[in-house]
Amino acid sequence: MKTFGIIAAMDEEIVDLKNMLELDKIVDKPKLKFYIGSLFENQKIILVKSGIGKVNAAACTQSLIDLFNVEYIINVGVSGAVSNNLKIGDLIVANDLVQYDFDLSAFDKQIGFIPDLEQRFFESDKKLLNLINDFCLVAGKNSDDNNYEKKNKIYFGRIASGDKFVCNPSDKNFIRNNFGADCVEMEGAAIAQVAFINKIPFVVIRVISDGADQNAVKFYDESVDSVTNNYLDIVKHILKSY
Ligand code: ADE
Repeated sequence: MKTFGIIAAMDEEIVDLKNMLELDKIVDKPKLKFYIGSLFENQKIILVKSGIGKVNAAACTQSLIDLFNVEYIINVGVSGAVSNNLKIGDLIVANDLVQYDFDLSAFDKQIGFIPDLEQRFFESDKKLLNLINDFCLVAGKNSDDNNYEKKNKIYFGRIASGDKFVCNPSDKNFIRNNFGADCVEMEGAAIAQVAFINKIPFVVIRVISDGADQNAVKFYDESVDSVTNNYLDIVKHILKSY
């Protein structure tokens, strides 16, 4: 049995996992409620809603590590597409993540570069990425009615995080052109940085809810409740593989 911490920022992103969890107990801390239980194959799960944004995400991740000694961290949630290939409902698994609003360019550092860690891009754990890759192969090959390789695709790419809901083409282009990012959200890179510091393997899995452009709020509002189902099978696959 392994101990997995699963983090999402909002209720909509965590509700399905919460319903699936065989709940053992709830640990209540200021601003954070940890749902402790088990999922598939008896993996121990600590499920938590971090709240929106990088500070909330970082604080939550450190608490998860300090209080529960989690061995792996999975972050799930929605994100805005920055690459034009991504459609609403598609999944993006982060090969790596960057904070697009961490800016020491005044000191000749590339935006996103964290000097004390000498890192700009934080990489998801290779074993977790390989497991997800195996899942994609099986989903693509074995099931006629699976929607992963048809309607909703699974991409591996770069996620950019920052403390802003991106809803205009100029921010979107800035993020795509300067970071080569595929999508944008508000927590992943902060979780990645804290996991990196603590040497905890992690992966960030996001589903596209909008195009991070002038229609982003409308598409987000329309899709957020339905698309958050789309990453459940990947999480299930990871947990069953350990
Ligand atoms: N999460 C979902 N859509 C987003 C967007 N457009 N910007 C930032 N975070 C998001």
